Amino acid sequence: MKKIKIIETAFRDAHQSLLATRMRTRDMLPIAKEMDNVGFFSLEVWGGATFDTCIRYLNEDPWERLVELKNLIKKTPLQMLLRGQNLVGYKHYPDDVVRKFVEKSYENGIDVFRIFDALNDIRNMEMAIKVAKEQNAHVMGTISYTISPYHTIEKYVAFAKDLENLECDSITIKDMAGLISPHDTYELIKTLKEETDLMINLHCHCTSGMSPISYYAACQAGVDLLDTAISPLSWGASQPPTESIVAALNNTAYDTGLDLKLLTNIKKYFEEIRKKYSSLIDPIAEKVDTDVLIYQIPGGMLSNFVSQLKQQNALDKYEEVLKEVPKVRKELGYPPLVTPTSQIVGIMAVMNVLGDERYKNVSKEVKEYIKGYYGRPPAPIDPVIAKKVIGDEKPITVRPADLLEPEFEKYKKEGEKLGIIKKEEDILTYTLYPSVAIKFLRGEVEEESLKPEKTIQSEEPAGLPTEYSVDVDGEVFDVKVLPVGYMEIGATSNKARNGSVEGSVISTMQGMILKLKVSKGDNVKEGDVVAVLEAMKMENDVHAPQSGIVEDVFIEEGDTVNAGDALMVIK
Ligand code: CO
Repeated sequence: MKKIKIIETAFRDAHQSLLATRMRTRDMLPIAKEMDNVGFFSLEVWGGATFDTCIRYLNEDPWERLVELKNLIKKTPLQMLLRGQNLVGYKHYPDDVVRKFVEKSYENGIDVFRIFDALNDIRNMEMAIKVAKEQNAHVMGTISYTISPYHTIEKYVAFAKDLENLECDSITIKDMAGLISPHDTYELIKTLKEETDLMINLHCHCTSGMSPISYYAACQAGVDLLDTAISPLSWGASQPPTESIVAALNNTAYDTGLDLKLLTNIKKYFEEIRKKYSSLIDPIAEKVDTDVLIYQIPGGMLSNFVSQLKQQNALDKYEEVLKEVPKVRKELGYPPLVTPTSQIVGIMAVMNVLGDERYKNVSKEVKEYIKGYYGRPPAPIDPVIAKKVIGDEKPITVRPADLLEPEFEKYKKEGEKLGIIKKEEDILTYTLYPSVAIKFLRGEVEEESLKPEKTIQSEEPAGLPTEYSVDVDGEVFDVKVLPVGYMEIGATSNKARNGSVEGSVISTMQGMILKLKVSKGDNVKEGDVVAVLEAMKMENDVHAPQSGIVEDVFIEEGDTVNAGDALMVIK
């Protein structure tokens, strides 16, 4: 009898999908032992957005979370999601950092590495896979699943074979938007089982509502591993419910062998957790949304557009943005929409619809994407768009990380100088998130409260859709569209330090100052980049609105600013 094995995602993907990745370690530990007794193939507990959220919002050390879980979970392998060369960040890191990070993750308790690349560019996965294999870890080589004229079964199978050649132990089909149909599931898994010798795993989100049916089709096609979430943290943007899948397969050729009674006890615990974190649940993320099938937008990415636009009775704009996403995706060579390409495409679509001209305002990330710094897009980028964005510059053809200098020793020295390094893992935290990590490692990050901050509604007349919320990887950002055609992000808070002084350079977004490029007394020209602001996990240049002398600077690197804040004065 073929046993299907279950991967439980409650401690990672499930709360990332439904609770904005905010579950605290202290809410995981009391149930960890019981989870360990179920007999799951693995427990996904780390990686993805959990690392970032821990240090940014929870004042928790992600490395300590891992160690504490490992101390309680003795039998079940612990699993993490690793974004290939991006690790748990949003950009490529050099090989020395990738090596160190994978080694330390293994050392602290990770047994199973699920490694993916948003573009399915294997060059971005090789290093992480190699190092994980050197540790003797189980490596799940991952296919980021999407649908396009370029994404055929043949190509997916060829990719899976490449992953097999790198000695991956299993293949994950990562269906982050819940796009895969039962029929396509069957065909793909059946072919993968025929063409490779690897275990096959299906990872779906319930967004479109098809996933439980696809899971059954997967069983019929010979799948080995299924990802599920304990029922209080399932459905919607999360995985299918563990208990339901276990019950559905009970006494069939696909029996999971798991005990429903044990799971029911665990479910009770998570019902309380769900209540505790209920303020974070976006009602849209709980729903089935078949729009995802038409527009291929992953769960949550634009969900907040719906509610905001409904409030303002302006759903016409919503359709326009939804239609723009597949257009942008096509023009950019059909990237699967997953971190970081989902942000890149999603925000580009928003800017295109709400600005006065398509591809007029382009983030640094979109430029770098077109230049090839994220890897090879699945299909050619529209040459007209490429020309408009990067001019005559030729995209790189080498592996992006080949252009990066080693960084670990540099950050080690810097971190030690700053006095923030207490253990080797701190160097990695600092290397991955330099600006946030300084605050975190100094103990200056305060744990966020579970009560949502009140946001001020649009001051614009009703009927004009000028404010939106954009969900980026579980983070909700408020976006305000100004008539001049650029975006203002996070226009929610007080207008302290407001720029009523003439010559003020005003922040159009809420975010963190990554770089300050001028100091008092400097001469600047109109359009010069005077600072770099990190918002919506992207870097945005702040330009001088006029030429002149920098008369005053109100910010430092690492400062958090609100939309409307004066950053400096140029006269
Ligand atoms: Co997922």
